[in-house]
Amino acid sequence: MKGDAEERSAGNRPRAVRSTTRPAVAAVVLAAGRSTRMKSKRPKALHAVCGPPLLAHILQALADAGVERRVVVVGHQADAVRAAMDARFGAGVIEYALQTEQKGTGHAALMAETVLAGHAGTLLVVPGDTPLLGAGILRDLVTTHNTLHAAATLLTAVLPGDAGAYGRVLRDANGNVTEVVEARDATPEQRHIREINTSVYAFEAPALFRALRDLRPDNVQGELYLPDVIGLLRGANQKIGAIVSPDPDIVRGVNTRVELAEVTAKMRARILHDLMLGGVTVVDPATTYVEATVRIGQDTTLLPFTTIGGDTVVGEDCTLGPGAHLTDAHIGDNVSARACFIDTSRVGDGCRIGPFANLRPGTTLGRDVKIGDFVETKNATLDDDVSAGHLAYLGDATVGAHTNIGAGTITANFDYYSKQKHRTMIGARTAISSHTTLIAPVTVGDGAATGAGSVITRDVPADALAVARERQTNKEGWAARKRAAGEGESDQ
Ligand code: UD1
Ligand code: MG
Repeated sequence: MKGDAEERSAGNRPRAVRSTTRPAVAAVVLAAGRSTRMKSKRPKALHAVCGPPLLAHILQALADAGVERRVVVVGHQADAVRAAMDARFGAGVIEYALQTEQKGTGHAALMAETVLAGHAGTLLVVPGDTPLLGAGILRDLVTTHNTLHAAATLLTAVLPGDAGAYGRVLRDANGNVTEVVEARDATPEQRHIREINTSVYAFEAPALFRALRDLRPDNVQGELYLPDVIGLLRGANQKIGAIVSPDPDIVRGVNTRVELAEVTAKMRARILHDLMLGGVTVVDPATTYVEATVRIGQDTTLLPFTTIGGDTVVGEDCTLGPGAHLTDAHIGDNVSARACFIDTSRVGDGCRIGPFANLRPGTTLGRDVKIGDFVETKNATLDDDVSAGHLAYLGDATVGAHTNIGAGTITANFDYYSKQKHRTMIGARTAISSHTTLIAPVTVGDGAATGAGSVITRDVPADALAVARERQTNKEGWAARKRAAGEGESDQ
């Protein structure tokens, strides 16, 4: 897969943004804010966008761009943000700086100074709330910054309509950026400017930290505004560069849940677009949801009302849907999965799943396994060519190859009184007839069979038939006598 999909995939080797003659690029990600506009008990950074938390997207983009150090400024619910990022990227991979009081974006950036002591090169400063920013534009920003030998280079965007709450970019008669003015502090004329500050900057680190110390909170919010350093540097005759994002959408920030939904919709469309360009057929993008972390092989078809999330990997030539819901699943090639849930499970090549099947965590299917309607599996390993066509529960079970599980088969795995689960072992080439109840722990040997409607409480030897039900009695003429006697009578 090419383009954004390639950049998103953590497995790909990033193209480094630095040349060998320049020092490493580091990045400061601002994520300490209280995000009051989200009206949430959770920090904004941890709200999900197509799977991963908001903050993880920009951290992944920075890694894909080859940025060597990533320092996140945390503050509001710092422990929760740190724990989530460490769980995602590995402990010690992301560095943190603490902003105990949220005094504005300029103050937040200053908090990273100690952590970055000695970093003399280019420093990217990015907000934690712009998940659509990809590695490509970050690389372009650094390249421009280096080529211009600027003290600061801004990423700007020209929005089609009213620029709302974004900071406006002011330029002089020669088109050079002079300063950024926040919407709240802008004059009515300035508010008409449609070129906005994306809050993505490349700085020379020493120049930035010097300017940050000169910031004053003389604005409507009484905060130290990071974008004010642009005016300060310019006033000190330092060079300011700027690039305009070719796509205004990628710089959209998430400040409210409305923006969260808008950004999610854009990312969803981009994911599906990349999948289609990578060789996956998406019959109806309007009803198909695929998270950013999912990988899907060539010539697989996604039918409507299908959702695929988490660390799911799907092979080639599969048909998923209508109505397939996959989470953290590993699906082989040539699999068909209709109207089903597959959660934290492995499905081998050629399997046929659904409709109305529920594969719960810990399910492992070999090749060519058939799981039909109203079959539920949990902690179950089914070897090649097992068929469970209808109405069965296979929990804590191991089933050998080529076995048939009849309709209505239940593995009774749960002991209510001890709260223990027990395992059912079913051998290869067995015929478990319809409506067999297997009371675990129990073993059915290879090649054995059970009689329909049996309740199996003892192990069954290989090649034996186990019948555990009352023998049938036929009462000759009973029904006829009953009819003749009329209603209300019985001869029993
Ligand atoms: C900011 C910019 C604005 C730009 C917009 C683009 C400022 C003052 N304004 O506005 O010019 O158009 O982004 O999206 O920078 N944060 C902290 N500590 C703080 C305050 C904020 O870490 O004390 C973090 C937030 O968690 C957030 C980021 O900085 O991730 C941006 O803050 P936010 O309040 O969203 O700024 P905007 O109002 O969007
Ligand atoms: Mg914002």
